[in-house]
Amino acid sequence: MNENQKVEDTLLQDATRYAREVGEQIVSFMKKPLRIQEKKNVSDLVTEVDLLSERILQERITSDYPEHWMMSEETDGSLRNAHEAFLLPQTGYGWIIDPIDGTTNFIHGFPHFAISIGIVKDEQLVCGVVYNPITNELYCARRGHGAYLNGRLIQVDSESQLEHALLATGFQADDWRPNSPVIEQIGRFTGKSRSVRIVGAASLDLCLVASGKLTGFWHEGLYPWDVAAGVLIIQEAGGRVTNREGSPFRLSDNSLVASNGSIHQTLLSFL
Ligand code: IPD
Ligand code: CA
Ligand code: CA
Ligand code: CA
Repeated sequence: MNENQKVEDTLLQDATRYAREVGEQIVSFMKKPLRIQEKKNVSDLVTEVDLLSERILQERITSDYPEHWMMSEETDGSLRNAHEAFLLPQTGYGWIIDPIDGTTNFIHGFPHFAISIGIVKDEQLVCGVVYNPITNELYCARRGHGAYLNGRLIQVDSESQLEHALLATGFQADDWRPNSPVIEQIGRFTGKSRSVRIVGAASLDLCLVASGKLTGFWHEGLYPWDVAAGVLIIQEAGGRVTNREGSPFRLSDNSLVASNGSIHQTLLSFL
């Protein structure tokens, strides 16, 4: 291992440790009454547990890596859009954090939410951890070293026919309305794919593609904290991630299409 690889190996181990610690905290709140606040609408929520989880992560990172920059949803989420959010100082190592991805699921006890931690160096994703503390599933990847679920190597599926492909998508936080374009997009895949799921935690949805349980996923308007970790995990699992135009995905992009690779062009042609 060269020096950079050693550093990034340690970063991944630390990110994993922080995610597990915070996961335990989040689960301990699950049967207690929560203070729930609406942000943009009835499905865009934040609780004191999101804030606590974020605070613990920030404290750990600042104390262990004071020279690294950090970006996280509840601190930086008021920035107008994903592009602007990612035009922050970004040389050297940086941590991109979603303290709870799938807050609505968390509030309802629907067991599909995660802590998502992506680490970039000079704009390149180098480590990713997505941890579902309810199912105890920990997905992780380090650039060039494969993607893992609880220590086991994972891979995307090999499906090449849309009619056999299980897909997923989601609503962007401020687009939960009857004429949202995603409804029309789902319509295009209806009867053409095996089905389309909306399970409400983009980071984990990406990991489901990485581990071959979904063949593809698309979403508009996600933020860097929703996707940083999951994008690397899919890439390391052999999949492909682009924007809706088919260019390699960048954290400042407003659209994301992720797949096993084989079906990618077909997905793009439907979107
Ligand atoms: C949300 C989830 C959801 C996606 C939304 C996101 P949050 O993140 O990832 O799956 O459809 O657009 O905002 O707010 O629960 O962290
Ligand atoms: Ca949110
Ligand atoms: Ca999120
Ligand atoms: Ca969140």
